[in-house]
Amino acid sequence: MKVLRDPSEMHTLRDALRGQDKTVGLVPTMGYLHEGHNSLLKAAREECDVVVMSLFVNPTQFRPGEDLSTYPRDEERDLAIAESSGVDYVYAPQPDGIYPAGFATKVEVEGLTEVLCGSETSRGPGHFAGVTTIVAKLLNAVDPDYAYFGQKDAQQATVIRRMAEDLEFRTEIVILPTVRERDGLAMSSRNAYLSPEARERATAIWSSLLETESVFAEDGLDAALEAGRRRLEQAGITPEYFEARYPGTLDPADGNGPDPILVAVAAKVDGTRLIDNILIEPKSLKRSDR
Ligand code: PAF
Repeated sequence: MKVLRDPSEMHTLRDALRGQDKTVGLVPTMGYLHEGHNSLLKAAREECDVVVMSLFVNPTQFRPGEDLSTYPRDEERDLAIAESSGVDYVYAPQPDGIYPAGFATKVEVEGLTEVLCGSETSRGPGHFAGVTTIVAKLLNAVDPDYAYFGQKDAQQATVIRRMAEDLEFRTEIVILPTVRERDGLAMSSRNAYLSPEARERATAIWSSLLETESVFAEDGLDAALEAGRRRLEQAGITPEYFEARYPGTLDPADGNGPDPILVAVAAKVDGTRLIDNILIEPKSLKRSDR
């Protein structure tokens, strides 16, 4: 496994791979790898000739006052995990390699980025502009055939798909199911911040989504959302949002049609911001993602 620090090294590698007619898979990460990342790496390893993992804590997707300076980092451990997962190249640039002096471009998806995590009362639309700008840069630098992301960041997945289609990136965007702890908590690098007590309470996030699903089957969407929110409140958690949306457009869902509904939640547990979601299929009343 090779570690590339400079964008120019990445470009040289990409030119060489193009000559060899290899399929390339990219797994973009901000490091502090967990089982969720492992599932993306595994899929990339199975499907592609060459696997590139990017490792970059992207400063432009953090708002002032968010956890950029304390975001968990352990490059040595990440490189060991990447190597044992069969990664061929880790692209780990420095911030000034990605955003050199004079950098002035933003890639922004409108509409989809202004709700849920993008609303002003949450992380704000600037968060997604940071995500789409770095992902566009990674797609340009690595030029992968496939790029892998997790369903836990459902809105991010929708926004990245939109951007890739609008800007005619020829990379296929692959979204893989959320990986969970045994008690249902979605895997996240930020789980590392949780005290044992907060970790225990955080399980209410997934329970609240399961509760929403089961009440929806019996009593419809409004009652279901109410039940889910109540479940969180019982655990002493006030959600930043707890909403039902259609996954492709992120328009508010009414739950009356046959289309799948994304119920998404963001909540702080003892100061740690966590997100999760569930996809509910009204027709069969079965969840399609766990
Ligand atoms: O999901 C993440 O870890 C980040 O948002 C991503 C896609 C690597 C961009 O920095």
